[in-house]
Amino acid sequence: MAQDTTKAELDRVKNVILQAKEKACRETDNEPEPELTSRVEWPVQCTVGPGLEGAIAAETKIGYVNGTKGSLIYRGYDIFDLCAHSTFEETSYLLLHGRLPSSSELASFSAMLRRKMLIPRTQRLLLSFPVEEMLPMAALRLGTNLMRQKQTFRDKDTFLAETADSIAADEDSIPMETPPTGGKKSVFEFIKHIFTKPETAPAHLISSEEIESCYNLLGGVVSVAAAIGRVRQGHIPLEPLPDLSLAGNYLYMLTGRRPTPLQERIMDVCFILHADHGMNASTFASMVVASTLSDIYFAIGSGIAALSGPLHGGANVEVVQTLEEIGEAKSVKAWYQKAKADKRKVPGFGHRVYKAYDPRARVLGPLAEMLAEEDPAIKPLFETAKELERTVVAELGESKRIFPNVDFYSGIVYKSMGIDEHLYTTIFAVSRVAGWCARVMEYLEQNRIFRPRAIYTGTLHEEYVPLDQRDPTGT
Ligand code: ACO
Repeated sequence: MAQDTTKAELDRVKNVILQAKEKACRETDNEPEPELTSRVEWPVQCTVGPGLEGAIAAETKIGYVNGTKGSLIYRGYDIFDLCAHSTFEETSYLLLHGRLPSSSELASFSAMLRRKMLIPRTQRLLLSFPVEEMLPMAALRLGTNLMRQKQTFRDKDTFLAETADSIAADEDSIPMETPPTGGKKSVFEFIKHIFTKPETAPAHLISSEEIESCYNLLGGVVSVAAAIGRVRQGHIPLEPLPDLSLAGNYLYMLTGRRPTPLQERIMDVCFILHADHGMNASTFASMVVASTLSDIYFAIGSGIAALSGPLHGGANVEVVQTLEEIGEAKSVKAWYQKAKADKRKVPGFGHRVYKAYDPRARVLGPLAEMLAEEDPAIKPLFETAKELERTVVAELGESKRIFPNVDFYSGIVYKSMGIDEHLYTTIFAVSRVAGWCARVMEYLEQNRIFRPRAIYTGTLHEEYVPLDQRDPTGT
């Protein structure tokens, strides 16, 4: 009986997604833009705006955002089909390896990622920082850096000089103070175990550009993100459960409760939707860092930093806050008129690339609706969102091509799962690790360090005036 209910709920999720696909197909074709889908001869001619808008920086086979028509493709597969039929693990395999896995490949890939979620040493290091007081995205970035310390040996040489002089102490008997010696010698012994390179270190631990590091990050960042949420609630991090997916384990390790199959599936769809999205700011940041032949942990850390801003991944937090500020659906029109008068941008609307309805919002909107139907606490928030969508699209849809973006409904979905709003952007980051890694790996195959130029518009030929001859007022 319970199994029948679960199957019916999961079928409903699939149907909601397929209906969203049908609606998208009715409203727009997804004919690709020829100038963005045919091979180029380098150097390429293009019109570039400020912030590199319109610049063509690389060729890719990983994903394509059709901003004119509002479609999104990973490795040739439409996002609606991946959401309806695939899983985050399978989609990650697709992004990283360029094709769908066979069933045995998928089974071993998924099992391996589950093992990669076990990162006790990274979590132990993480807990030595005041994670509960940090911005979750700052803590996540720190977490990737700590994974780097654990999983690469790049820092070994500088570190060993100090561990040789380390004081002998176990974790429980670290002296409160160590006598000053005039040098940096007080290194806790347990750190030595973490950093000392084994004689027979596997090659993938030395070369952090290897695909193995991508797997470490894919699994590990799930655990770091969940641990951050857990610590913020005053609990200790949990280990993953072997029979749950990455998405299910994220929810389990965050809340301490086994998610329902419906919650696990919806989170899985959210992970798929956020896995990749063209050369956006955070992907570009990762690629720029990787192009210097820095390592992939640093590269992903930069992606996390870029994603944290409210113009990028941080918008869904603002969406929920805005909806709460509006209060109820009938207050939307008055709120919007005031926002317009104040020249305030409405969070969750507009996009640099999409000048059509974001396909990810087409999936998330109905999923949020489905959850709102079951949850009286979420229903008013959803109704307010729907009314805000109607109002903004009526005002700006035709004239400025402003529609809801991926962040507009994702916050409602996460809220209905009881997730603290401060963690929303970390969920985005957990899934985007797949796209960041895939694009970094692809770019490194034919790496060229990024180096755009700026037009200098300052003065020229200034004469240096010595300090004592300058106007003391500084004007
Ligand atoms: N609400 C109201 N008006 C908007 C909005 C909005 N959310 N977004 C754009 N506009 C208007 C602008 O005021 C501008 O009008 P104007 O031509 O009269 O000056 C016009 O649309 C073009 O806007 P730009 O800011 O130039 O568009 P741009 O491509 O630079 O910005 C961005 C895209 C940053 C996403 C913007 O739409 C925005 O700030 N949205 C709100 C924040 C948000 O939701 N961010 C998440 C984006 S999705 C993601 O990163 C995952």
